[in-house]
Amino acid sequence: MRVPDLTTRDRTAVELMDDPDCDLLALERTYAQFRAVNAVVAGWQLTYRRYVRPLLHADRTATILDVGCGGGDLARALARWAQRDGRRAQVTGIDPDPRAHAWAARQPPVPGVSFRCAHSSDLVAEGRPFDVVVSNHVLHHLDQHELDTLLHDSRALARVRVAHSDIARGAWAYRLFSVGTRPLASESFIREDGLTSIRRSYTPAELAAAAGPGWRVAQPWPARNLLLDDGLPDDSLLDDGTR
Ligand SMILES: C[S@@+](CC[C@H](N)C(=O)[O-])C[C@H]1O[C@@H](n2cnc3c(N)ncnc32)[C@H](O)[C@@H]1O
Repeated sequence: MRVPDLTTRDRTAVELMDDPDCDLLALERTYAQFRAVNAVVAGWQLTYRRYVRPLLHADRTATILDVGCGGGDLARALARWAQRDGRRAQVTGIDPDPRAHAWAARQPPVPGVSFRCAHSSDLVAEGRPFDVVVSNHVLHHLDQHELDTLLHDSRALARVRVAHSDIARGAWAYRLFSVGTRPLASESFIREDGLTSIRRSYTPAELAAAAGPGWRVAQPWPARNLLLDDGLPDDSLLDDGTR
């Protein structure tokens, strides 16, 4: 297998799923496969335990926004984990792509989860805050202006924490993803788009530079970037009864 030159970000590569006219059946299979693929590559169990669960409580419902939720598997997983841990959480998954929203909304309902066909800027315009704002695999899709908008919106919407998780570009990530998703290649966009995603994704230093001051990049999982907002109030504010 040939690994492309990953020295620089490939901003020109386009994912098949971003084509509004792409094959709908293959797109829906891709949403369906996100759940299994995300469970392996994205490390959200650990990210939830470290960065989200400490903000959730048994006696007060925390609100979580999953921006660019796609098929909605992260929104559903967060609600399930919170319930398993005896914490109260209401999770909203938003995506402005009507194909993603329709698929997510059609899946069996999970208590504490709702989906809306909306862009993050729509929620800012509504003035509707959330305790925690997260996303998964959204950052690498965006150009610099769209990234600035997402980061501005996340800050405007989040009361306590923003955590945007994405792939970190690297040859090992490319090799492992290429081999691991080979059996899925003919059914959906998952393999081809995943490899394109790795070429489009940031190194930790590039992401920190693109995000700018007030943001930091953690690496809680192999080949992952977790972009965290350092400018938000201390987590303890959730406990003091003022929120
Ligand atoms: C690859 S999908 C990610 C799907 C899902 N989060 C996952 O990990 O399986 C990226 C999605 O982000 C959405 N998106 C991009 N910018 C957004 C924004 N500012 N607000 C809401 N959704 C956004 C796009 O419509 C697209 O469906």
